Amino acid sequence: MASTIVAIDGPSGVGKTTASKLVAERLGLPHIDTGAMYRALALKAKRLGIAFDDAERLAGLASSTTIDFVPGTRPPRVLLDGADVSDAIRTPEISMGASTVSSVPAVRRALVRMQQDLGERAGGVLEGRDIGTKVFPGTPLKFFLDARAGVRAERRFRELQAKGSDVPLETVAREMEERDAQDSTRADSPLTCDDSYTRIDTSDLTIDQVVDAIVARIRQFGEDVS
Ligand code: DC
Repeated sequence: MASTIVAIDGPSGVGKTTASKLVAERLGLPHIDTGAMYRALALKAKRLGIAFDDAERLAGLASSTTIDFVPGTRPPRVLLDGADVSDAIRTPEISMGASTVSSVPAVRRALVRMQQDLGERAGGVLEGRDIGTKVFPGTPLKFFLDARAGVRAERRFRELQAKGSDVPLETVAREMEERDAQDSTRADSPLTCDDSYTRIDTSDLTIDQVVDAIVARIRQFGEDVS
């Protein structure tokens, strides 16, 4: 299983992070949240006063930054230049900032290389927007999670509420729509799904049903999973 790469792509609010974490546990593989890496870079840009669309300075920043995960932590703790930023990257401002930063080609090149290095170390369940198209296009284990827009907004709203946020549902829905439009229409590696993916609509499924569907499909590919 060490070299097994599972790609889980899809828009925000489809349950990628929870599903990826559980699939990684079932398979005994590292969970690599690539969105957290774009978020970490956006956070560093904000702290340094670099605009999220300043392509030139972001290119320099990406090539001089290290982003890693603390092994064995669940959910994975994210290290930005060695410091734990796991909580600081989960704000609405950094969500949008990560989306904008991620449309800069030089940023993508640097982070895709880091993601490939992480995956090659010990395999992994990688979640993101371009894992099956750009990061590990050769893996046969590709899943595209989707859900109705209203369901996705509601899920994200509940997640934010649980953390004490009082942002109204309409605002969460609008920001999510804006971010998904930006992620799906950018020139470099937009979020797309083709026939090489197994597509799963999670709207009416429990998280256990999503995980079971992914693991069952991986078994069909002959991977040795319990
Ligand atoms: O999965 P997330 O919401 O944490 O991702 C934050 C942003 O990062 C997302 O809006 C787009 C970008 N992203 C990307 O472009 N490619 C990836 N593989 C993962 C995330």
